Amino acid sequence: MSAAPEQLVINGLHVSVEGQEILKGVDLTIGRGEVHALMGPNGSGKSTLGYAIMGHPSYDVTSGSIELVEPNGTRHDVLAMEPDQRARAGLFLAFQRPMSIPGVRLADFLRHAVTNVRNPDRKEGQELMPMREFRNELKAKMAELSMDTEFARRYVNDGFSGGEMKRAEILQLAMLRPKFAVLDETDSGLDADAVRLASESIARIGSGGAPGSAEMGILIITHHEQLLEHNIPLKTHVMLGGRIVESGGPELAQELHKRGYERIRAAYPDAAAAEKAMEESAKVAAV
Ligand SMILES: Nc1ncnc2c1ncn2[C@@H]1O[C@H](COP(=O)(O)OP(=O)(O)O)[C@@H](O)[C@H]1O
Ligand SMILES: [Mg+2]
Repeated sequence: MSAAPEQLVINGLHVSVEGQEILKGVDLTIGRGEVHALMGPNGSGKSTLGYAIMGHPSYDVTSGSIELVEPNGTRHDVLAMEPDQRARAGLFLAFQRPMSIPGVRLADFLRHAVTNVRNPDRKEGQELMPMREFRNELKAKMAELSMDTEFARRYVNDGFSGGEMKRAEILQLAMLRPKFAVLDETDSGLDADAVRLASESIARIGSGGAPGSAEMGILIITHHEQLLEHNIPLKTHVMLGGRIVESGGPELAQELHKRGYERIRAAYPDAAAAEKAMEESAKVAAV
């Protein structure tokens, strides 16, 4: 029997935002080389899970654990790491709504990020990856993704269309080659052809994996099944009211895409009640 792959293990995760509990006990284990789909109605807590994994300061983990577990059983406490340490440890989040960084060119941003991720002990101010090596790699990756190299000269997400932002996230994924990636609605705002290209690209990048080791573990947050076309999920998880209430295979993603969440709400009335309560308090917060 082959050794278990390296895993991202989440246990009993509770997360609050501005004092309000959003995640109410999430359990999820993803092995490298596995694709998992995370679905669920708007406001159920999917993006919150992504932010908590990456260590966004507004998302307080009040209990539970997030760990990286090596094949030999060695456990690393992700919650004890700063966000940049998490990136260096091989975690990556493609944001649902990426930030723009006017004045910073995408290529320079990527050269910094790639250097840091590949040399986890690098201190700020120390040398970057050699320009020629970086440029060659960037060009090759952009060609694979059918992207114009001029694109990398633009400021990060500054004036990007929705589709361009998503493609910039996929380029980051290709360059950084993390161990575990959370892709938060990487298909939103893309037309059918662009989703197909994104789906193919993610599959190609995912099976390439980090240098010198196994493949990527990917959590795909999506409302549609198109992104899953080339990334057949080992498991599909449904989040409702801040918990994963049901897990199944690829057929579950198809069911939810076709029929929506009514069956889920009826089957898990406690989670449906939590969903209602979260909606109400979000409305109050918005007033
Ligand atoms: N930064 C935030 N400030 C206030 N409320 C937030 C914030 N992030 C998330 N929430 C609330 O948490 C709940 C879950 O949001 P989110 O994780 O974005 O859900 P999903 O990604 O499943 O649509 C919502 O009620 C939302 O209003
Ligand atoms: Mg979201």
